[in-house]
Amino acid sequence: MTSGATRGLFISFEGIDGSGKSTQLRALADHLGPDTLVTREPGGSEGGEEIRRLVLTGDPGRWSAETELLLFTAARRDHLERTINPALDAGQTVITDRFADSTRVYQGATRGDLRAKVDQLHDLMIGVEPDLTFVIDMDPAIALERGLARGSGEDRFEDFGLGFQETLRHGFLALASAHPKRCILIDGNRDVAAITTEIIAHATARLPR
Ligand code: ADP
Ligand code: TYD
Repeated sequence: MTSGATRGLFISFEGIDGSGKSTQLRALADHLGPDTLVTREPGGSEGGEEIRRLVLTGDPGRWSAETELLLFTAARRDHLERTINPALDAGQTVITDRFADSTRVYQGATRGDLRAKVDQLHDLMIGVEPDLTFVIDMDPAIALERGLARGSGEDRFEDFGLGFQETLRHGFLALASAHPKRCILIDGNRDVAAITTEIIAHATARLPR
């Protein structure tokens, strides 16, 4: 840790594709001000962004479930070493669009029976959790429409379809209820401002005064 800085608060946003994570994350960051680092997964570091291109573009069947798990974990390790830890050590608040919960749900709960391997790899190579996780819950049909409307070209997972998004939603709900101290479940089926107000209230309650 750099001289005298208190380690910053580590916040993640989770939820299905198009649930409003990026919108809410930006609003929270704007509210918290300049000592806030906004980042994302997969990505958030040079190497992480290179891996992002490998996992989010191309054919849905491009990678086996196991290879995909390794790629997401490699991206996270690089992100943690080069971006997240240095910022937290310098006392910044770090807000990330997705972290390990996404792997637990996307790879662990949907792509074969990989959950035990997901947890083992996490323990071996990552070993940390955010201090606070906002899980934005919303109707997958609406979220899918919103996500595809963006036309980002990074639609490999959206391309798995609505049934897949329903499975993901239940995965996130189960995670939130298994970790009630860390995770705050947010109803995303409301207007942007109402959701932001709730998120800001929870985050500021956790920040040192
Ligand atoms: P995510 O990061 O979870 O994929 P985004 O924040 O990018 O989601 O939102 C997906 C789309 O939905 C964007 O076009 C965004 O403007 C819109 N959107 C986000 N939150 C809401 C909301 N509460 N109501 C209506 N539209 C929203
Ligand atoms: P992103 O653009 O963050 O998603 P969104 O559509 O919600 O804005 O793209 C990340 C995609 O990668 C998303 O579909 C979830 C998936 N993903 C995993 O499958 N495993 C992971 O560990 C992470 C971090 C993301």
